[in-house]
Amino acid sequence: MKPPGTTSLTRRYSARQGLDQRPRFSRRRRLAKPGRERRLRIVNYIGSKRSRLSFLERHILEFSSPETSWSFFDVFAGTGAVGRHFKRLGFRVISNDIQRYSYCLNRAYIGISQAPAFGNLARTLSTSLDPAPDEAADVVLGYLNQLSGVGGFVYRHYCLGGTLGGPFPRQYFTDENGKLCDAIRLQIEQWRQDDLISDDEYFYLLASLIEAVDKVANTASVYGAFLKRVKPSARKSLKLEKLEIIPSQKTHQVYQQDGNPLARSVACDILYLDPPYNQRQYATNYHVLETIARYDSPALRGVTGLRDYAHQKSDFCYKSKALKSLEDLIQNAKARYVFLSYNSEGLMSEQDVISLMKRYGKAELRQEAHRRFRADLNRENRRYRADQVIEYLFCLEKLA
Ligand SMILES: C[S@@+](CC[C@H](N)C(=O)[O-])C[C@H]1O[C@@H](n2cnc3c(N)ncnc32)[C@H](O)[C@@H]1O
Repeated sequence: MKPPGTTSLTRRYSARQGLDQRPRFSRRRRLAKPGRERRLRIVNYIGSKRSRLSFLERHILEFSSPETSWSFFDVFAGTGAVGRHFKRLGFRVISNDIQRYSYCLNRAYIGISQAPAFGNLARTLSTSLDPAPDEAADVVLGYLNQLSGVGGFVYRHYCLGGTLGGPFPRQYFTDENGKLCDAIRLQIEQWRQDDLISDDEYFYLLASLIEAVDKVANTASVYGAFLKRVKPSARKSLKLEKLEIIPSQKTHQVYQQDGNPLARSVACDILYLDPPYNQRQYATNYHVLETIARYDSPALRGVTGLRDYAHQKSDFCYKSKALKSLEDLIQNAKARYVFLSYNSEGLMSEQDVISLMKRYGKAELRQEAHRRFRADLNRENRRYRADQVIEYLFCLEKLA
């Protein structure tokens, strides 16, 4: 089904293209095929823009009329859904997030543009087979999937078998899945230490593990708590799957840094901001994925087994700091266009944001309403005020 307003926007966009002879992104040629958003395999993530990609694409292209050489900087990348989409559209993507699990996902999906060959490793694992590059990942993932479980950090701290009898029994995973996760994680690290895999291959495997683990996590949706009973999806066996690699001739960059200082130093054409919009810190909601990504045996505390996250707290999660932090980004960004995704339930008000943006150039607000999903009502027992949320896209063309 066509999103509302598509026809007139497309017409306006084409008309603009007709006036200007520079090579530009053609919306008709590049527009995501119907269903693509739903097919995108992705970690179940708070604030994921997986289902808002058409909205973002439509307004970002319409507002900025980008050229094919342009760069797109996704400062708060999360799962990388937006960066992946704009990479697919042909942009040079720069991706960043403060969390390590996010870095792993983006390092794989944004940083890798052709299927890794696993040259050394695939030959070592399969003596009778010299796999073609597109089959190599199958061989390597198949090998990892059939490893025998090991009682490592995940089993000892996040599974019932490893924690029962201690002060804080936890059940984020079944014992079998926790042990298999440990075995796979240890093997990936060993291969890296032995120089049997490249950096691309290392992050490809970690991204596949993070996605696989999230599918069998015994949580309602985030890792702020685990369920007492093992839910049906958590009973399934952990299984690494091949990643969908997005081919591209361009050089993409991936960072794991605080977005504010980074945006001062990295120049781009389009700066895309999708910061946290409420008090919930991502570091606390995804701490288990963070520990699996790092595998650094941190000290854990309390019932949920939270790791220290002092260095990963986001200013956007505080009403008193969010607007100041946004101004710092906008003022210092080395970008022609700035886009901010936000919604009607965020800590910053629509009025405050638009007034701020108008101080730095030509600003507009695009929006669409969407109905709240049932799952949102139950997540962490939260109750929301309205049964619809307005998705905002603040658009700014910065004054030179
Ligand atoms: C709303 S989510 C982004 C969702 C993403 N667009 C997607 O579709 O998956 C916000 C992200 O900002 C990250 N974040 C929070 N504070 C940050 C900071 N100071 N610098 C960089 N990333 C930060 C969080 O880790 C989280 O992944």
